[in-house]
Amino acid sequence: MTQLAKQSQEPGVPTLTTRRLLLRPVVESDIAAVQLHFNDYELVRNLSAVVPWPYPADGASTWFHNHVLPNQGKEKWVWAITLRENPSELIGVVDLWRKGSPENRGFWLSRQHWGKGYMTEAVIPVTDLAFDVLGFDKLILENAVGNQRSARIKEKCGARKIGEKNSSFVDPAFTASELWELTKESWRSHKASLHG
Ligand SMILES: CC(C)(COP(=O)(O)OP(=O)(O)OC[C@H]1O[C@@H](n2cnc3c(N)ncnc32)[C@H](O)[C@@H]1OP(=O)(O)O)[C@@H](O)C(=O)NCCC(=O)NCCS
Repeated sequence: MTQLAKQSQEPGVPTLTTRRLLLRPVVESDIAAVQLHFNDYELVRNLSAVVPWPYPADGASTWFHNHVLPNQGKEKWVWAITLRENPSELIGVVDLWRKGSPENRGFWLSRQHWGKGYMTEAVIPVTDLAFDVLGFDKLILENAVGNQRSARIKEKCGARKIGEKNSSFVDPAFTASELWELTKESWRSHKASLHG
């Protein structure tokens, strides 16, 4: 198979656009923005306890070089969320990964951008890509019990809550997570309902 033919079968990490956002693959120059946003405990406390806290000075660089670069566009797809008018400035991240643990999707947004519907908007093209291009049959989604903003995004996608399990988050007050299932069929019917 020629290199060109091989590339055309592997979508890599495509740039995705919505009405207000541009989602592009994260790049090395985004490290400084991630490092800055991860100094915010109110943001980071909602994330899995695999994230170190206090966030080390090389935290974002380690994440990018050890976790993003080796898998980007293969088993993991990591997008920088940006505003369309300023695509160089990362304001958040949304990612998908093939091998669920059991969840397959994560996201965060810098606090000044919360509550504007951005994440609800960002997950739409990512979910379309997962089902229409990457071949997922379902996505398992997870959030800390008590992270109502994140849970609300799952509800708004048409996901179904399937259970809870013990989990550790950066904030030790979170001791359990909710698991959600979003199937290809339920995503399609959810989208059809949006379009009336
Ligand atoms: C979770 C997060 C990505 C949400 O992003 P966002 O762009 O603010 O989300 P949206 O504005 O698209 O939607 C948030 C929803 O939560 C609702 N919400 C906001 N504050 C809430 C609260 N205190 N309790 C319940 N719901 C709340 C909003 O009203 C909105 O729902 P609506 O559209 O029905 O009104 C963002 O808060 C974040 O980055 N949090 C820290 C990291 C994190 O939790 N990541 C997920 C780990 S599982």
